Amino acid sequence: MTDVIPVDEDLLRLEIQKHYAEVATSPEHEFHFHTGREAARQVGYDEAIIEDIPDAVIASFAGVANPFHFGLPKPGETVLDVGSGAGVDAIIAAIAVGPEGRVIGVDMTPEMLDAARRNAERMGLGNVEFRKGLVERLPVDAESIDLVISNGVLNLMVDKHGAYKQIARVLKPGGRFQIADICVDKPVSDKAKRDIDLWTG
Ligand SMILES: C[S@@+](CC[C@H](N)C(=O)[O-])C[C@H]1O[C@@H](n2cnc3c(N)ncnc32)[C@H](O)[C@@H]1O
Repeated sequence: MTDVIPVDEDLLRLEIQKHYAEVATSPEHEFHFHTGREAARQVGYDEAIIEDIPDAVIASFAGVANPFHFGLPKPGETVLDVGSGAGVDAIIAAIAVGPEGRVIGVDMTPEMLDAARRNAERMGLGNVEFRKGLVERLPVDAESIDLVISNGVLNLMVDKHGAYKQIARVLKPGGRFQIADICVDKPVSDKAKRDIDLWTG
């Protein structure tokens, strides 16, 4: 199966990076989507989990739903957060897997990576690392991950088929994938598919 690419992928990635750099550096700004603690509450995160996350850490959360709806990772597991943003889900996973486990976050936006690394440090977590890279070319070893999580990222990607192939590559046999994202239940017109502002928005 080959995806039809209706927009310039490099241009789209640049626009997305501009957008999310601002979420990372100025989370107090108004965006067309909800951010921070209130957004996490609205999309159904367990209050007991988010109340332990300081304001400065959760401020740049920009997820669209709760990837832990189907359960937290188990102690000792290796978790990959695809499009990890400011690292809130990776941090929740790092607490859940404990010192015997490990979490890797991958994101393409430098400002988000900086925020995520600062946030992990603030939380005193040594079992989480953040790598720069594209979901479509994950900088992660094959068959090395027990659980892949993702929140609000695949909708931003043109080559969704390529992204899923990468996720399948890095999962161990029997590994799991818990994705929180946006779906449309009506056909999207070709004109809309070519509108880069609709992709980033
Ligand atoms: C809506 S934010 C969600 C961030 C985070 N998952 C959260 O819940 O707060 C989308 C993130 O995906 C990243 N992203 C988008 N497309 C990407 C791609 N092709 N490869 C790597 N990261 C990507 C952006 O840089 C941004 O940090």
